[in-house]
Amino acid sequence: MRIAIVPGDGIGKEVVSATLPALTWLSDTFGLGLTYDVLDWGADRWLAEGTGLPDGAIDLLRKEYAAVLLGALGDPRIPDMAHGREILLGLRTGLDLYVNHRPLDLAHGTVDLYRENTQGLYSQVGGAVSGQGRITVAMDECVYTRDTVERFVRNCLLHLRAAGRRKVTLVHKANAVPHTGRLWQEVFRAELARVPELTGAEEYVDAFCYHLVRDAFAYEGVLAPNMFGDIISDIGAALMGGLGLACSASVCPETGFALFEPVHGSAPDIAGQGIANPYATAMCLAMLLGHLGHADAATLLRDCVLEAGHTDAATPDLGGTGTTDGFMSAVLALMDKR
Ligand code: NAI
Repeated sequence: MRIAIVPGDGIGKEVVSATLPALTWLSDTFGLGLTYDVLDWGADRWLAEGTGLPDGAIDLLRKEYAAVLLGALGDPRIPDMAHGREILLGLRTGLDLYVNHRPLDLAHGTVDLYRENTQGLYSQVGGAVSGQGRITVAMDECVYTRDTVERFVRNCLLHLRAAGRRKVTLVHKANAVPHTGRLWQEVFRAELARVPELTGAEEYVDAFCYHLVRDAFAYEGVLAPNMFGDIISDIGAALMGGLGLACSASVCPETGFALFEPVHGSAPDIAGQGIANPYATAMCLAMLLGHLGHADAATLLRDCVLEAGHTDAATPDLGGTGTTDGFMSAVLALMDKR
């Protein structure tokens, strides 16, 4: 099986390059037969050729690869992030990766956050009117179709049930954003009635953010529309101890195709210094291995990343003095010892 590696920009390149030796080590040690190709989709290619997601990229991924591991996109030379939108949103919609799972590993346990990944405020429907060199009116429409909300909610509920979860919370803003809010509530209630093992709750997104910070232990599974899920996952990352720790999987449940990426961006403020935390990317690799059915390799990697996070190898964002490559060397050394 082949994995497509998209390092992207900034620290994306650094954390991915540091993590790849672990992929090779695990594949060799467990006899997984995994190989990879590095695809150069990102700011440099955009600036050189004007290409974000190359023609045929979606077909290529579907035919040739089992999954994607992506670093991050974003470059100060492209302030409007045009390349990043084309690549990230192109992959999510092109591969129909509509379920974005962001596990929040907190002291008391894991909160499973699910973000709808393809519609809502990221639908790319809108426009702007300019006059006298400045924008006078701007619109980004929040579009949701019932089919998309239904399949998202249904899959997440089934996943939560399979994971033994008992409670699920829908995050919405139906009081101020009524049309899509009511659609989400209607679908959530109907789908929940078909999964009696789960108890449902509904919260306005603002109150939810407040409660998550104060009482994260009150939550087990959380379902959120696209933009709310994006914001909540950064709050979750802060609760976990930093953006360098939070990983995510974007999945199409029907095809099984999945893309794994850390929640953080390309961090231009620390890019090139060799101090970016590769923890989240390594955890993404563990999720990827688990997704492909290699549970033993995934568990070993996950345990050793967790352990390395408590050693001197930890990077400065965790209060340590370690480096990106040094952290992953420590992970490899721990794996070697087991
Ligand atoms: P960011 O996540 O890149 O950085 C926010 C803060 O967290 C910075 O202080 C950074 O140094 C720190 N940080 C992030 N990841 C870290 C890591 N692994 N280790 C240590 N510290 C880490 O968010 P920001 O600065 O808002 O965005 C930078 C660029 O990334 C922008 O172009 C943005 O559009 C893009 N972006 C891309 C994403 C993606 O590719 N999925 C997601 C979020 C932002």
